[in-house]
Amino acid sequence: MRVLITGAAGFLGSHLCDRFIADGHQVIGMDNFVTGNPDNIAHLIGRPEFSFIQYNVTDYIYVEGPLDGVLHFASPASPVDYLELPIQTLKVGSLGTHKTLGLAKAKGARYLLASTSEVYGDPAVHPQPESYWGNVNPIGPRGVYDEAKRFAEAMTMAYHRYHGLDTRIVRIFNTYGPRMRPDDGRVVSNFIVQALRGEPISLYGDGSQTRSFCYVDDEIEGIYRLFFSDITEPVNIGNPDEFTIRQLAEMVIELTGSNSPLQLHPLPEDDPRVRRPDISRAREYLGWEPRIPLEEGLRRTIPYFREQVRVRGASARIL
Ligand SMILES: NC(=O)c1ccc[n+]([C@@H]2O[C@H](COP(=O)([O-])OP(=O)(O)OC[C@H]3O[C@@H](n4cnc5c(N)ncnc54)[C@H](O)[C@@H]3O)[C@@H](O)[C@H]2O)c1
Repeated sequence: MRVLITGAAGFLGSHLCDRFIADGHQVIGMDNFVTGNPDNIAHLIGRPEFSFIQYNVTDYIYVEGPLDGVLHFASPASPVDYLELPIQTLKVGSLGTHKTLGLAKAKGARYLLASTSEVYGDPAVHPQPESYWGNVNPIGPRGVYDEAKRFAEAMTMAYHRYHGLDTRIVRIFNTYGPRMRPDDGRVVSNFIVQALRGEPISLYGDGSQTRSFCYVDDEIEGIYRLFFSDITEPVNIGNPDEFTIRQLAEMVIELTGSNSPLQLHPLPEDDPRVRRPDISRAREYLGWEPRIPLEEGLRRTIPYFREQVRVRGASARIL
């Protein structure tokens, strides 16, 4: 297969490129580096299976030759990124989705949209099955991301229903692992970087809010299986093991051998209290479930951050 992956220089996009290439496919990566990092794909440059186009996917996209798949992963994805880049986030979720869908239609390619658990907003149903419509504040600061992704899902389904495009929608829940930006402001990166630097760990609220964390290899496996399945309904891919943010902080402190204290900060606006995927659909139709528990995933992730702190002097970024 020959596939286009947008957001290829990002955290998930770069791992997805690796996965397709490992299975013998041809990959064209596209990215404008707004939140990505060329280092994430440096190991692929020069390989015959990989080519790269630096481009903003909100503009008209031209790709030479046949394409069998288009996987749209371009989008600022962490709260600090999309709060800093609100218009770009809305544009890449709306215009970027429209442009990539148009490309898939023109090439007769299968389309996969990277959606998010944020489409459920601050959920009134817990855990969240795909049938839940969500509880999103359209005009709150996080609305730029949540509503862009909800629009992207609607647009994808419209292309599926009206043009008969072969589409997939993955609703990705919090994922972590090597190649995350140390200053992306997400809770896992912040906690690890702060612990490694011996700085106070910033806990929003009292730390009793819950999240579930999926190790990147598990997430990529689920997305890959979905792409090669025939499921056109959205599918949650995430780890259903739920932890409080305080538990995560304590685990990171222990695994890094840090003596950082916890420091409380006010809870950001519209921050979800709970978040956990119902993965029954992925289990039933993809035979997928995560295999790597949080502690093991953190052990695999910490050396990457240690290097970023040691060599690049990386620091955390808080809201
Ligand atoms: N990581 C997670 O936990 C998570 C959770 C839910 C959804 N997602 C989704 O997965 C996708 C990838 O997220 P990530 O964590 O890898 O984020 P990331 O910021 O590391 O990667 C996104 C990439 O998209 C690129 N990009 C953004 N706007 C672009 C544009 N207009 N044109 C070209 N490139 C552009 C960025 O430069 C970056 O390389 C996103 O669509 C995100 O919404 C991620």
